[in-house]
Amino acid sequence: MSSTAHSKLKINAGRLLSRLDELGRVGARGDGGLHRLAASDADRDGRGLLADWMRAAGLEVRVDEIGNMFGIRAAAADLPAVMSGSHIDTVSGGGKYDGSYGVLAALESAETLNDADVATGRPFIVACFTNEEGVRYQPDMMGSLVYAGGLSAADALATKSEDGTTLGRELERIGYAGDMVCGSIVPSAFVELHIEQGPVLEREATVIGAVETLQGISWTEFKLSGQANHAGTTPMALRRDAGYCAAAIAVEARRIADEIGPSQVATVGVMELEPGSINVVPSAARLTVDLRNASNKALVRAEEMLDRFARDLAARENVELTSRRLARFDPVSFDDVIVAIIENTATGLGHAVRRMTSGAGHDAQMMARICPTAMIFVPSRDGISHNPAEHTDDQHLVDGANVLLQTVLNLSAGGA
Ligand code: HGY
Ligand code: MN
Ligand code: MN
Repeated sequence: MSSTAHSKLKINAGRLLSRLDELGRVGARGDGGLHRLAASDADRDGRGLLADWMRAAGLEVRVDEIGNMFGIRAAAADLPAVMSGSHIDTVSGGGKYDGSYGVLAALESAETLNDADVATGRPFIVACFTNEEGVRYQPDMMGSLVYAGGLSAADALATKSEDGTTLGRELERIGYAGDMVCGSIVPSAFVELHIEQGPVLEREATVIGAVETLQGISWTEFKLSGQANHAGTTPMALRRDAGYCAAAIAVEARRIADEIGPSQVATVGVMELEPGSINVVPSAARLTVDLRNASNKALVRAEEMLDRFARDLAARENVELTSRRLARFDPVSFDDVIVAIIENTATGLGHAVRRMTSGAGHDAQMMARICPTAMIFVPSRDGISHNPAEHTDDQHLVDGANVLLQTVLNLSAGGA
């Protein structure tokens, strides 16, 4: 079966969009934001919905040691499978498309192949990776990192959260501590469909992004320990103010990004002060800094500048400093053959397409370590994501899913 035999095949738009809405209600909060953190009850409920849909589609559902879920659509030939997927865990206050769209569009590809009774040359696997967001347990992209051999399952399962839980125990509690050995299925290719989460495609009125690179990511946690003291009676020169140091590090992170230039981004997403009273000099502070750059050399420079600043500041302010790297991933280049297939597929379907980089981290950046991998992007309205206002037009969601379907057909033609 050549992939052109089914070049007119189209996904069932209603099924995809209704499932996105249904999954988008699992873990939804009053403001419409999703709070479906990894291994939470909401994650359990979302996984249950996905597993039901996979089974109803006749896929064999497997769960590995780190809770990654796979829906396997068999093929006659015993060839390495094509895999497509993403994640369904969200950030706190996230949108309903980030990750879920890629998982449900991959499932939609399998369902459409079933409906059309298409026998692919290779098996096709729908993947849903654990803890891509890294909000509750660091690092992010954890499930795919373990799958790709970048972190041992034992170390990942032992990861503790600030909420006092351990990932392994939580996966057992929600019923997704699987027995499949991580990485035991090495795909022939991996493709991830995802919303862009940035402004580029919308600004250029382009529907499809053929993602060829993904920038480097560095997450650092700084902990500062000073001395609680009276806000009114303590002279400035005698203070050991952990709160001031945390704020100064946050300001320095921004200054470093400005100095290095537009390729550098810096984010302080978490800043906690103790005891958190208006009239007490903070005794302790915890903050996280997310640094990213497409150039690893520039990212290393940013890390060194910030680490040096924090050390010198703590010494000057007589505050103890500890820091730990929560995540560190080099920039990634995807497989040019698959990027070209995505480009040609999009063009063949009549869509404007452009090659681009990804500012966000994705499971694809881990899967690129073990097989030819690339990504497909569709536009995000106003470039907004990790926000309840995250939105992609229905037509763009359907267009992206059809590009994925044809890309999967192309890649899974196999030897047939
Ligand atoms: O952090 C990221 O870029 C991804 O959303 N985990
Ligand atoms: Mn994502
Ligand atoms: Mn995300």
